[in-house]
Amino acid sequence: MKIYLAPLEGITNHIYRNAYSKIYGNIDKYFAPFISPSEKAPMTPRERRDVDPENNNGIYMVPQILTCRSDLFIEAAKELHDMGYKEIDLNLGCPSGTVCAKGKGAGFLPETLALQRFLDDIYSYAGEPGIQISIKTRLGFYDPDEFYDLVDIFNTFPVSELIVHPRIRGDFYKGDTRKEYFAYALEHSNAPLVYNGNIFASKDYEELTTLLHKDLDPVMLGRGLISDPSLADKLKGYTTETDLIKLRRLHDTLYNEFKEIMSPDINILHKMRELWSYWQVLFVGHERDIKRIIKAKKCSEYEDVVYHSLLT
Ligand SMILES: Cc1cc2nc3c(=O)[nH]c(=O)nc-3n(C[C@H](O)[C@H](O)[C@H](O)COP(=O)(O)O)c2cc1C
Repeated sequence: MKIYLAPLEGITNHIYRNAYSKIYGNIDKYFAPFISPSEKAPMTPRERRDVDPENNNGIYMVPQILTCRSDLFIEAAKELHDMGYKEIDLNLGCPSGTVCAKGKGAGFLPETLALQRFLDDIYSYAGEPGIQISIKTRLGFYDPDEFYDLVDIFNTFPVSELIVHPRIRGDFYKGDTRKEYFAYALEHSNAPLVYNGNIFASKDYEELTTLLHKDLDPVMLGRGLISDPSLADKLKGYTTETDLIKLRRLHDTLYNEFKEIMSPDINILHKMRELWSYWQVLFVGHERDIKRIIKAKKCSEYEDVVYHSLLT
């Protein structure tokens, strides 16, 4: 079974990807958070650092591009190809207000004619250098029934993988996923399919496969894997337990890296708090300790809670 790490902007950057792959591994593809090319440059220095092969050593990483302009996509793709990437993902799912207002991410989905022209351009370009382009999409912007036309459109291009997050833009990341639309994709998509959304535990995966009468392979894990980094090992059948020793190693690796590159303490703690907002599900009964982490203003206070109460 293949497992992909979802791109999560602000979380799954190269620091996280390297730490995770060293300590856990068992991820078949790491999708990097999006690059948003502009007229000025195909990527910012920070985006370039994140996808720089030197910072992604030994990891199978797929960079992702967010744009509605084929010229900007192609500029960024050329640069990524020069770095050695042969597989690139297109973001058609981002629900953020500022992104959608510019017609990008999920905001591109209702513009079906422009989308077709865009896909025409980027797939025509990709043929010669031999770049594979996958698409990560939602079902639609306003209505999930938009998905029927979208599948027809995607079917006319050599989409290397169609990663479906079965929600519409207005769902953001909340509520149940609309699994019946993924069932439609299973019947009608020409592209190999990847399911993404709300897999937090092995039972979620099992329920999904029972409902869809199909072993979903590959699957893409986002928040579920951040919350329980052992989830990939669990789905692959290597363990049934969350490994807290590995979690401590992941924590320490990330914390020490952040301490090296960030200051003052509050900036480091901001990053750690975000991670604990996911990890806290593993520490039921420790709500007071989690609150102390959220309130900590100094690394010393933070370390006192983490090393004396949580990851002892
Ligand atoms: C904080 C955050 C950042 C995200 N950043 C990206 C991104 O850069 N590119 C993208 O395609 N999806 C992004 N997503 C969406 C995730 O990749 C994924 O599709 C979503 O979380 C649903 O999967 P899950 O239920 O397994 O988390 C982001 C989601 C969150 C919560």
